[in-house]
Amino acid sequence: MPTLTQRLLERLTPAFDALEPGADPVLRGSDRADYQVNGVMPLAKRLGRNPREVAEDIVAGIDVGGLVAAVEIAGPGFLNITLTDEALLEQLDAMASDEVLGIPAATTEEVCVVDYSAPNVAKEMHVGHLRSTVIGDSLCRTLEVLGHTVVRRNHVGDWGTPFGMLIEHLIDQGEEEAVAGLSVGDLNGFYSEARTKFDADESFQDRSRARVVSLQGGDAETLRLWRILVAESVRYFDAVYTDLGVLLTPQDVVGESSYNPMLEAVVDDLDAAGLVEDSGGAACVFPPGFTNREGDPLPLIIRKSDEGFGYAATDLAAVRNRVDILGATRILYVVGAPQAQHFEMVFAVARMAGWLPEGIEAVHVAFGNVLGPDRKMFKTRAGGTVKLQDLLAEGIDRAADALAGRNHDPETLDLVARQVAMGAIKFADLSTDRARDYVFDWDRMLAFEGATGPYLQYAHARIRSIFRKLDVDHVPTSGALRLDHPAERALARHLVALPDAIESMMESYSPSKLCTYLYDLAQHFTGFYESCSVLNAPDEATRASRLELCELTASTLRLGLDLLGIEAPERM
Ligand code: ARG
Repeated sequence: MPTLTQRLLERLTPAFDALEPGADPVLRGSDRADYQVNGVMPLAKRLGRNPREVAEDIVAGIDVGGLVAAVEIAGPGFLNITLTDEALLEQLDAMASDEVLGIPAATTEEVCVVDYSAPNVAKEMHVGHLRSTVIGDSLCRTLEVLGHTVVRRNHVGDWGTPFGMLIEHLIDQGEEEAVAGLSVGDLNGFYSEARTKFDADESFQDRSRARVVSLQGGDAETLRLWRILVAESVRYFDAVYTDLGVLLTPQDVVGESSYNPMLEAVVDDLDAAGLVEDSGGAACVFPPGFTNREGDPLPLIIRKSDEGFGYAATDLAAVRNRVDILGATRILYVVGAPQAQHFEMVFAVARMAGWLPEGIEAVHVAFGNVLGPDRKMFKTRAGGTVKLQDLLAEGIDRAADALAGRNHDPETLDLVARQVAMGAIKFADLSTDRARDYVFDWDRMLAFEGATGPYLQYAHARIRSIFRKLDVDHVPTSGALRLDHPAERALARHLVALPDAIESMMESYSPSKLCTYLYDLAQHFTGFYESCSVLNAPDEATRASRLELCELTASTLRLGLDLLGIEAPERM
C-alpha cells in the first residue's frame, strides 16, 4: 500500500517534470501545513526564472483531486500543502487493517547481513558491545519488517595469540573450576589472572607461546580446550542476550575462527590480482587514498611478518563469504567509531579485489561512546569494565523501585520491571544520534517524563487501560473515524507518517529517528486526550471514532517500540 507521501509525490512529479524532467520536488513533512515542498527555488535557479512564477506554474500543474485540500505559496517560493481529511481517513483505515500499519515493503527484497554485538571470548562484554547489540538488533527488526531477508552475524573474537595463555591458565586451574567461573560470567577475572601470570612467570610465557603454535597447528587436545573457552563464553553472552531480549542466538555466532580456512586464499587471490606488496616481511595492500599523519601510504596488513593472519584478513574473508555464499547485497557493520578506518580500508581492498562488486552496499554503522557521570568512558569505580549483567540487574532493581506502589502483584512487578529496565536502557541508547557519545544516567533514562523508554511504555499502557475500562480488547476497525477536532487531525497526521519515520531511520541507519517519531506521537496523543474526551464523548459516533484513534496510537507505539527491541507492557 502506497504511503501518503508516495501518493502526494505522484501528484507533484508531473508538475515538476513539465518544467524540468527529473526535477526533485524535495517533499518534506511539515508542522505548519502537512507538507512542505522545497524544490521550487533550486529549480527556478536552474531555469533562471523568478521562483514565485515557477511556484505558480507548479501549483497550476498539480492534480489535487481527492488528495490535496490546499496549496499555498509561501515566502520566496516554498509550497505548503494541506491534505484533505478524506485522504487522511482513507490512509488511517488502510493502516488499521494492515498488520505492519502501512509500512510498505521495500521495492527490492535484499539479503542483508548485519554484523553486530561481536564480544570477545574470555573477555567481559563492555558497554560498547551493548551499543552494538541494541542498535544492530533494531536494524535487523526493521529490515525484516521491510521484507528483507536478514542474516545476523555475531563476529565473536575467538582467535588470536591471547588464547595461548588462556588455555594454559585453563589447564592450571583445572577444567571444572575454570568452567564454573566462566559460566557465571567471570570472564574478566579469568582473563586477568592469566595475564598476571603471563607477565610474572617466564615459564608460563613459554608454555603460552608453545600453546599458540599448537592451536594454530590444529592440535586436537589444544582445540578441545579452546572450544571449552569459546563455549562457556558464548553461553554467558547468550544469557546476556536473553536478559536484554535481543534476537541473537548461538546460531548467529560465526566467530573469527570460522574464517581461518579461507585466509590462505585471501592472500593468494590478492597476490594473484597483483595487489599485495611486501612491507618488512608482512603481506600488505595499500589502497589508494589512505595515508598516515606523515602522508605515507597506509597498509592494510593481510599477513603479519610472523606468518600470522590478523583482524583485517578475517574481515576480508568474511566479506567474500557474505557476498558469495550468503548472497548479501547489503552488509552492515555495527561497530564503534574508532574502527572507521579499518572498515574503510577493508571495503576499499575488497572493492579492488572485486569481492564487493558495485551495487553491493557495505556500511560501517558507527557509534560513539557510553560515558560515565564524569563524562569520561563509562567504567566501574575501580576503573574496570562495567559488567553488563550487573548493569542489567541494577536496572531491573531500579525499575522495580520506580514501579513500587503501582499495585502490581509480585510476579507482574518482576516482569514489568524487566521490561521497563530494558526499555529504559535501550531507548536511552537508541534515541541518541548514534554518532554521538552519551552519558549513562539511570535517573534520566528511567524517568516517566521526557523522551524515555518508560514514558513511551507508559503512554501505551495508559491507552490500553481505556480499553480495559470498557472491558474490550480492541475496537473493531469500523471505518467510524472522523476528524472534527484539530487535535484529532494533528494526531491522525502524525500516525500516517510512520512509514516516513521508518524510511528516514533506514536512510541513515539511525534508530534515533524512529525514537523521535514515537516521542512526538505520544505528545500528540496527550494533546488529543486532553482536549477530546473519549469515554465521555458527546455522542456514540464521536466516541467510536476517538476509540479508534486510541487503538491506532497504541498499535503504532507497540510496533515502533518493537522495532527498537522494546516491549510494551499492557499495564505499568
Ligand atoms: N570483536 C570486535 C571488538 O570487540 C568487534 C568485531 C566487529 N566486527 C567485525 N567484523 N570486525 O571490538
